[in-house]
Amino acid sequence: MKTAPVLAVDGPGGAGKGTICRAVAARLDWHLLDSGALYRLVAAAAARAGVALDDEAGLAGLARDLPVRFEGEQVWLGDEEVSEEIRSEACGDRASQVAALPGVRTALVGLQREFRRAPGLVADGRDMGTVIFPDAELKVFLTASAEERARRRYKQLKEKGFDVNLPALSAEVAARDRRDAERAVAPLRPAVDAVVVDSTALDIEAVIERVLQELKRRGLAPDA
Ligand code: DC
Repeated sequence: MKTAPVLAVDGPGGAGKGTICRAVAARLDWHLLDSGALYRLVAAAAARAGVALDDEAGLAGLARDLPVRFEGEQVWLGDEEVSEEIRSEACGDRASQVAALPGVRTALVGLQREFRRAPGLVADGRDMGTVIFPDAELKVFLTASAEERARRRYKQLKEKGFDVNLPALSAEVAARDRRDAERAVAPLRPAVDAVVVDSTALDIEAVIERVLQELKRRGLAPDA
């Protein structure tokens, strides 16, 4: 049986993956996997169950039986709607600790692969093209300079009314990049067959067009 096509989009935080993936999935009417949300959900589930963030076996157990449901923009953990909670900086921070544990990553592989359904899947993450969908029909590694990603984050947080400082954010972005690239399991790096797209000087529409073009070249998106 032929499996549904996958567009794997990987890259560092702040490169615009979420926005691009949502837009491309909407245009093609494909499914969307926000894999970062799964690591955030494991962190949220751990807080509820009283599991410590260094208890690898306990966290892997939670990850294996994660009662997650995505309904449009809403994310549910069991019968609780947690969309806002998992987007917080605090949850992102805990998610990055959880994501460094091999047992947790392994426990989430099957769940992520279940998202591959017809007519196709846009998978947003760090290891979509390297680990989860190594046979993806198109792999995009979306990046932007650390300064530009810090600037985008600064703008986002300012708009939400937070008091933030750009040099401190830039230092945080650089530190997180190093941690992600240097971790022992699934370090962040482009798959050998990925198309690298640098969004530093591109607006969102230009990046979407670039991705759609690559899909069309492979016969995966309509020409119109
Ligand atoms: O993309 P995000 O900020 O929602 O991701 C949350 C954390 O999970 C972040 O530290 C990176 C990590 N992550 C990962 O290790 N692998 C993925 N496929 C997705 C996210």
